[in-house]
Formats: sequence, C-alpha cells, structure tokens
Amino acid sequence: MGFVERIREQARRRVRRIVLPEGDEPRTRAAAEIAAREGIAELVLLDAAFRRDKADEYAAALYELRKAKGVTPEKARALVADPMYYGMMMVKQGDADGLVSGAVHSTGDMLRPALQIVRTRPGMKLVSSAMILESANREVGDDGLLVLSDCIVNPCPTAEELAHIAVAAAETARGLCGVAEPRVALLSFSTKGSAEHALVDKVRQATELAHALAPDVPLDGELQLDAALVPEVAALKAPGSPVAGRANVLVFPDLQSGNIGYKVANRLGCPGGFAVLQGLAKPCNDLSRGCSVDDIVNTVAMTAVQCG
Ligand code: ACO
Repeated sequence: MGFVERIREQARRRVRRIVLPEGDEPRTRAAAEIAAREGIAELVLLDAAFRRDKADEYAAALYELRKAKGVTPEKARALVADPMYYGMMMVKQGDADGLVSGAVHSTGDMLRPALQIVRTRPGMKLVSSAMILESANREVGDDGLLVLSDCIVNPCPTAEELAHIAVAAAETARGLCGVAEPRVALLSFSTKGSAEHALVDKVRQATELAHALAPDVPLDGELQLDAALVPEVAALKAPGSPVAGRANVLVFPDLQSGNIGYKVANRLGCPGGFAVLQGLAKPCNDLSRGCSVDDIVNTVAMTAVQCG
C-alpha cells in the first residue's frame, strides 16, 4: 500500500473534524465532498455565510491571546471576520481538530495566524515543515519514501533550530509516515570535513545538538546529498556512518536549499509530494495554490492522522 492509501485508510479509523477556511473555493468544496463521502474526516467549510455565532467568543479569546502584542478588542473582532483567523480560533478553542488551507492564500498568510494563534506544541522549539516524497527508486530512503525538511517555513535557521528541525522531521517520519527507523542526514556541500566554511560549521554544530536532543535517533552530518543516499558514495566519503548511504530523512541547511531541493526532485523525476507542518500544538496544513482536488483530500487525511 502506498503512502496516500495508507494515510486515507488511517484517517478513516478515527474521524476528525477539520476546518477548511477557503470554503468558497471550488476545489476545496469538491475535496470536502469526497473526504466526507469516503469517511476521511468531518469537514467544516467556512464559506461566505460561515457561522458567526462564535465570532464574539473567538474575538474575546483572540484579544486575550494577543493583547500583549498590541491587538485591541476592535482589531480582534476585525481579525475573526477573516475566515483564516476564524478557522485558527476554531482549532485553538477545540471546535475543530485541525485546519487545511492555502488553495487561495499564500503560505505566509496561512502560516502567520497559525504561528500566532495555534503556536508550538509544548516542548517544541519551533514550527517547521516536512515534504514527503515517494521515489520510484525503491532503493533510496525507506522503500522509496523520503522526508525532506525544512522546505517551507524557516528561512535561515540557527544551528539550534536546525537541530530541532532534524528531530521533528524524524518524528514525522516515524509518526505520520510509519518509518520504523528514521535515519537523518544533515545536508551540506561538504562530507565529513571535505570542505571548511562557516556554513559547514553550522551543520556540524546542529548535528551535535540534534544528537543530544535525540540520542536514540540515528543521525549524521555533515553529509552531501549523494553521500546521504548512495551506498557506494557513502563507503568512500563517510565510512562507518550510521546514516550515510541509507538516509530516509534529509535535513537541508536553510530554506533556499530546502525549497529548491524539493522542487528539483519534483521536476526531475519525483513528482508530487505531500507537505505537512510539524511542531504546531494542533495540526494545520498548507496547500499549494496550484493544488488539485486530490491534493486537498490527501492533505485533509494527513491532517486528520496528525491529530493522533
Ligand atoms: N516557529 C514558531 N513560531 C514562529 C516561527 C517558527 N518557525 N516563525 C515565526 N514565529 C512566530 C514569531 O515568534 C511571532 O510570534 P509573536 O507574534 O507571538 O511574537 C509570530 O510567529 C510571527 O512572526 P514574525 O517573525 O512576525 O512573522 P514573519 O512575518 O516573519 O512570518 C513566516 C513568519 C510566515 C513563517 C515567515 O518566516 C515566512 O514567510 N517563511 C517562508 C514562507 C514561504 O514563503 N515558504 C516558501 C514557499 S512555500 C512552498 O514552496 C510550498
């Protein structure tokens, strides 16, 4: 069974309530119908006539949450009139288990209210993303499945943030993707000292910090992409590494490389991919504006599964 079938099946076992703030958008409406018909989730569509019966309650809660950041009661009322903020407040207040949006809104427009309102899970330092790719080459990753991180959220992570991203990606691989042994490669343009640069030092430091955060997770760095994935290259460049040549989680040093990296994979042989946010207190996921109806159904299913 492929990743999508497994996730849809898993979502059906425990039906969760997922809010779709872009309820007027035709692909979103079509996806909601399919997801409901297939028992993947209970959907709440926030269309132009979305229920305002909780607007006052949400505005008051939002004001309390954000008053230290300068949000006034008037501003809070104006914000909850926006379906994206209303949807985030539904999740925050427990009226929905998760949220899917982004068929119309940009990533930043979806991320900002998620970060401000839903915020990070206890113990989680930051929110980041995982891009789940399935390669036709079953020799790479976990039977072809690869988790790439962070391709969406953090433009320029510090070494400490990179370490947290690595550990969160390992958790996503295990929890959402069912990878029995996540093997995490912290990527660079250098493998084990083949080049010296402050950027390489950052990846080395991140690897050490990640080891300390998750001593039981096999992870290694700094590794070039070929050393991470190809056993023959690994044997030459990183002999003895617990990860090199068989990595299934690839951690990019920054958002430029992560975003470009997954798009290179996408366009040159590994189409598709499933993006999820990791580290939020409750699951909220972003769509690409070019998404298909099927992409939305799959993201709803992943969000439902992330609810636990
Ligand atoms: N984890 C947790 N909280 C965060 C994070 C994070 N990674 N980043 C920001 N925050 C918090 C801030 O602490 C702040 O909290 P506060 O208001 O309570 O103090 C709040 O979120 C807003 O942060 P800002 O820094 O004011 O927001 P900013 O305008 O920088 O936006 C954002 C943050 C949206 C994540 C920004 O970094 C961004 O645009 N990232 C890139 C998104 C993108 O375009 N990705 C690529 C395209 S997507 C694709 O290809 C699929």
